[in-house]
Parts: sequence; C-alpha cells; structure tokens
Amino acid sequence: METIRLLEKLSDPDQISRQDLDHLKKVLVSFLASERDKGTRFDLLKKLIRNYSRKEIELFELNQLKNKFIGMAAHDLRNPLISIKGFSDLLLTEDYGSMTDTQKEFISMIQSSSGTMLNLVNDILDIAVIESGKLLLKAESGPFGQLIKEKVKMNRIIAEKKCITIHQDLQKCPDVFFDSDRMGQVMDNLLSNAIKFSGQGTKINVEMTPFKNLVKVSVCDEGPGIPAEELDQLFGEFTKLSITPTAGEKSTGLGLSITKKIVVAHNGKIWVESEPGNGTIFFFSLPVSKSG
Ligand SMILES: Nc1ncnc2c1ncn2[C@@H]1O[C@H](COP(=O)(O)OP(=O)(O)O)[C@@H](O)[C@H]1O
Ligand SMILES: [Mg+2]
Repeated sequence: METIRLLEKLSDPDQISRQDLDHLKKVLVSFLASERDKGTRFDLLKKLIRNYSRKEIELFELNQLKNKFIGMAAHDLRNPLISIKGFSDLLLTEDYGSMTDTQKEFISMIQSSSGTMLNLVNDILDIAVIESGKLLLKAESGPFGQLIKEKVKMNRIIAEKKCITIHQDLQKCPDVFFDSDRMGQVMDNLLSNAIKFSGQGTKINVEMTPFKNLVKVSVCDEGPGIPAEELDQLFGEFTKLSITPTAGEKSTGLGLSITKKIVVAHNGKIWVESEPGNGTIFFFSLPVSKSG
C-alpha cells in the first residue's frame, strides 16, 4: 500500500521526499531481483523439462531395445525347448523302445521341466511383443460364449485332479470383436489361476452377462482370497503374491500382466473383487462389436 501511495506521489515531484525515493528504490531493486530470479527459475525449469524429455526418449528407446533383446533370446530358446519337450513326449509313448521305470521317471522330469521353461519363455515373449506395441490382434466378431465353453471344457480336465468343479452360467449376449487365441489365453489364465490357488473340492463359477454395450465375464473361485494390500500389485509383471499354488503347480507371476494387456488391447477392462477367506472374482468386459 505504501509503495502505491508513493508511486502516486511521483506525478507531483514537489511532494516526494528523499526518504520516499529511497523506499521506492529499494522496492524497485527487490522487484528487479525477483524478476531476475523468476527468469533464472524459468530457464532452470526449461532446462529440466528439456532434460526430462530427453531422458524419457532415451528410456523409451532402451526399453524397446530391452524388449527386442528379450524377444530375440526368448524366441531362440523356444525352438530347442519345443524339441526337448517334443522328444521327451515321444520317448514316453515307448513307441521307440520300452524303458525302465527309472528311465521313464527321468524322461518325465525332462518333459515337465522343459514344459515349464517353455511356458515361461512363451510368457516372456508375449510381454516383449505386447510391450513393443507389436501385438496384432486377429480379431473377428463372434459369440464369446463359444470360447468360454471350449476353455471350461479343457480346464475341467485339470480341475478334476483337485476335485474342483467348474460351473458355467452363460446368458445370451451380443457378439464381441475378439482374437480367439489371445482371449483364449485370458480365459486359460483366469481359469488356471482359479484352479491353481483353490483347495480340493471347491467350486468355480464362470458367468457371462450382457451389460449396456458390453459383455461382462466373471470367474469366481472359493480359494483363499487376496489380501487388500496386494490387490494393486496383481496385474504387475513377475508378481507372485502371498497366495501360492495349493498342489505344487508352477507360478511365474506373468499371467495376469499378459491377461490385462490383452484385455486392454481389445478396448476392454479387467478388475478383481477379493477378500481373504471369501474367494476371488475376476471380471472383464469387452465392448459389443458394431455388427453385434
Ligand atoms: N484366483 C486367485 N486367487 C488367489 N490369488 C490369486 C488368484 N489369481 C492370481 N492370484 C495371485 O496373483 C499372482 C499373480 O498371478 P499370475 O500373474 O496369473 O501369475 P501365476 O499364475 O504365474 O502365479 C499369483 O501368484 C497369486 O499370488
Ligand atoms: Mg496365472
């Protein structure tokens, strides 16, 4: 206020005192200093933003390089693993000569280990492909219920070993636009998780319902449920949480991360409801296809 009054006085030099002028000078100096500071701060901010953008680009390029490298390594590992697994499958048929029990046991171990490694390599390959933006969906419009039925049928074979029953309640829904291999992976992962993390004799329920312009699918199990503090890590990469398989099944912690990426690539959404002691429900929704 004082400064404004003094500035007004400037129009009438007779009224202005030496003291007033000193005061105004001080104000001006500090104003210029703050302007100069502002300029410095602005330059600094500009420099920071420039550096940040450069680092972001570098990081993006390095990530692409990492994906390319991982993709190449995984791809090169895949073929020998397919051969090892294929030949051990073949030997176990005993079509090429009978084996002693010990030989069979060893070959079974080779078969199982190479199968596990192949799954891991396939998952890593999927992540690299999806992250590099090269996931090309071979999508067609069709009834999603058909795919659910196929996947439930296949997973029932695994579930039976743990006396787990899988029920399905599939309502009539409009067609959706989906890649059946990729969405098959989604169903396989949700069903295999429900089987893997649930105890003997429990039930799994798969539902499909129309909801506005979406088709909503849920996979509900009677397993241990997921602690609240772990829920937001669930869809991350290599996240094996406190819930572990109940019958020694293999776990890599990559399945749900791939699952989410595939659903999102279909313009869909995935979410979970779970409570320790009350089982887990995974939901996902896909938009109804225009022609559906
Ligand atoms: N239905 C479920 N019930 C309880 N925990 C689950 C369920 N599904 C996933 N999880 C937890 O989330 C983790 C990540 O799952 P996922 O990414 O599919 O990897 P993986 O099946 O290889 O362990 C699992 O290791 C488990 O701890
Ligand atoms: Mg899984």
